[in-house]
Amino acid sequence: QVMNEITELSVLEKEIKETLQVENVVIVPGNSDEHEWIKQEMGKACVAYLKQIIRRNSTIAVTGGTTMASIASVMTPLEKASNYLFVPARGGIGEEVENQANTIASQMSRKAQGNYRLLYVPDPISETSYQNMIKEPSVIEILELIRNADIVLHGIGDAITMAKRRKTPDEVIQHLVEKKAVSEAFGYYFDQEGNVVHKVRTVGLQLEDLEKMDNVITVAGGQSKAKAIQSYFKHGKSTMLITDEAAAHQILRDA
Ligand code: BG6
Repeated sequence: QVMNEITELSVLEKEIKETLQVENVVIVPGNSDEHEWIKQEMGKACVAYLKQIIRRNSTIAVTGGTTMASIASVMTPLEKASNYLFVPARGGIGEEVENQANTIASQMSRKAQGNYRLLYVPDPISETSYQNMIKEPSVIEILELIRNADIVLHGIGDAITMAKRRKTPDEVIQHLVEKKAVSEAFGYYFDQEGNVVHKVRTVGLQLEDLEKMDNVITVAGGQSKAKAIQSYFKHGKSTMLITDEAAAHQILRDA
């Protein structure tokens, strides 16, 4: 029984690799829409993978969200590496405190016994403040660390779900609906073909920065996220997808 499940999952992983054109895939059993703890299972897979790729002095940039928070909850010290640093990938993008990248970076570092640096930016931010902010020496210093991170850890959300959760103004939601936004990651909203249709203004990691990165780990599961995952992978860079069985099956049905 257990053996069959393992074989089934590895077949599924191979199919997802081909469908989404991603180098590495790990699929955990279950559906995180139905059981919150499946997010922790993805989290454990993520911690195991981090242990393989992390090096001494690595910088890890993390985004916000409940999936990332679950990873933080199962984080352990990353043996064989030392002096690693956790930073938030981007400034505030409208999340509740417990789902913010700053909170998650500090929690991960505490449990991993690493270091952390935080990024304080008002959220939402006006154009004038933004222009001044990016000239602050302390902000410049941390932005440098973020944009040159060795490892990026991020989630993907369904576009409209995320926009509503972030209390996005009605006219922006209207715009997202018109542009047929399907997914959201790092504060960027993508349509079905993976085109960026909207971007939340904040400092930190830009989509272009991902191009030069060796390790971009995407963690997203649940049947309801299948379309969002597909949409992100049309354009967004990722070197590893950690997902669950329910999302994987739905992706293959939609493909
Ligand atoms: C975050 C990303 O990591 O996860 C967001 O920055 C994404 O862009 C979100 O939408 C998904 O949140 P959740 O709660 O579904 O894990």
